[in-house]
Amino acid sequence: MTTVSAVRALQIFDSRGNPTIEAEVTLSGGARGRGLVPSGASTGHHEALELRDGDPQHFRGRSVRRAVGHVEGEIARAIVGRDALDQSGIDAALIALDGTPNKARLGANAILSVSLAIAAAAAQARGLPLFAHLGGDGGTLLPLPEIQIFGGGKHASGRVDVQDFMVVALGAHTYAEALEMTFNVYQAAGDVLRRHSRLAGVADEGGYWPEFDRNEDALAALVEAIELAAYRPGRDVAISLDIAATDLFRDGGYSFGTERRRFSSKAFTDLMIGWVRNHPIASVEDPCAEDDWEGWQRMHQAIGGSCQLIGDDHFTTNLARIERGIRAQTANSVLIKLNQIGTVTETLAAIRRTQAAGWLPVISARSGETEDAFIAHLAVATNAGQLKVGSFTRGERMAKWNEILRIERQLGARARFVGADLFAQAGIVLPFR
Ligand code: PGA
Ligand code: ZN
Repeated sequence: MTTVSAVRALQIFDSRGNPTIEAEVTLSGGARGRGLVPSGASTGHHEALELRDGDPQHFRGRSVRRAVGHVEGEIARAIVGRDALDQSGIDAALIALDGTPNKARLGANAILSVSLAIAAAAAQARGLPLFAHLGGDGGTLLPLPEIQIFGGGKHASGRVDVQDFMVVALGAHTYAEALEMTFNVYQAAGDVLRRHSRLAGVADEGGYWPEFDRNEDALAALVEAIELAAYRPGRDVAISLDIAATDLFRDGGYSFGTERRRFSSKAFTDLMIGWVRNHPIASVEDPCAEDDWEGWQRMHQAIGGSCQLIGDDHFTTNLARIERGIRAQTANSVLIKLNQIGTVTETLAAIRRTQAAGWLPVISARSGETEDAFIAHLAVATNAGQLKVGSFTRGERMAKWNEILRIERQLGARARFVGADLFAQAGIVLPFR
């Protein structure tokens, strides 16, 4: 009943209108599952390879026809006849079939589409929601949302250098309350920008695209928005930043293009440490470039006990890099993106290792997303505790926030929400709480 009988693939489009891949797996009992693959813009160099055709005649080189061909050819031949309940066995077979360390031959997008579709088909065959299939009875924790208010960096043509200005509703007692608080701050932030004539549009993940002369002006505007929404900055609603500093790093130093300022690694970490100390910031992601291990260690020594410090490009959901980070003490949290590594099994292993170290996993979308809500299920299944999906607007973002509401209802009395207590559980004492 759960034997793979057919594997198809299709070139579809992501939230930026770029081609991406969808796979559909059919099982012998008739169950079906789909896997839709997102795509990043500020990608880390250690990510698994996203295979694009590179033909300038089609979609500016971005079509994924070869990846589609790999799914319907080699990959289909390798997994038809296998049991979809054996996710790890199928994922291992896909990794072996590819044969490269970064899934460069078949494409991580091709491989992930099938890995996701296998999970979805197996869940349907078992008559279970995806989170219950992936996590068993133990997956009951609703995530604290990290929600973008302003977008910058590569997602807004570099108008502000910092990529994500987000909020976390630390004062929320339920997931629904966290959404309502974020809605209020998002609306107030629009008012603040209009009042200051700083609203330039909407960035790739749905946050406002502000025009500021200095990055710190955006921080001040965010605090103003939290206050305008009648919340206490830090206590009720805190700031979370994704610096995406790999994009700011060149020739051994960091630069803020908008401010025409250049920094040594030491000077940049000092600046970041100062920001964290002087603003109600609960979480900071990629404040150092992916391979600036010393910068990461300096950051961790200075703020690791008082702020969540997330590695995204730094770890790329890669177990070997996470192990090295745990040994070297470079962070206390790992951003988890399925397509950085390319299979469900490797993603689950990265989450488990993060949790075993006492660190916090943050399940994340990409800037180029789809309407699929797999990551909402992944967050609950693994009790990850946090979910980052972009802003509180646009269908591809809301699909994930809404799916958690459905999961909450399905879980009924078993649903848990611990909110800000997560940080204390990981030994992070936020000074403003
Ligand atoms: P990306 O951005 O999907 O463009 O990499 C998201 C992030 O950096 O967290
Ligand atoms: Zn990031």
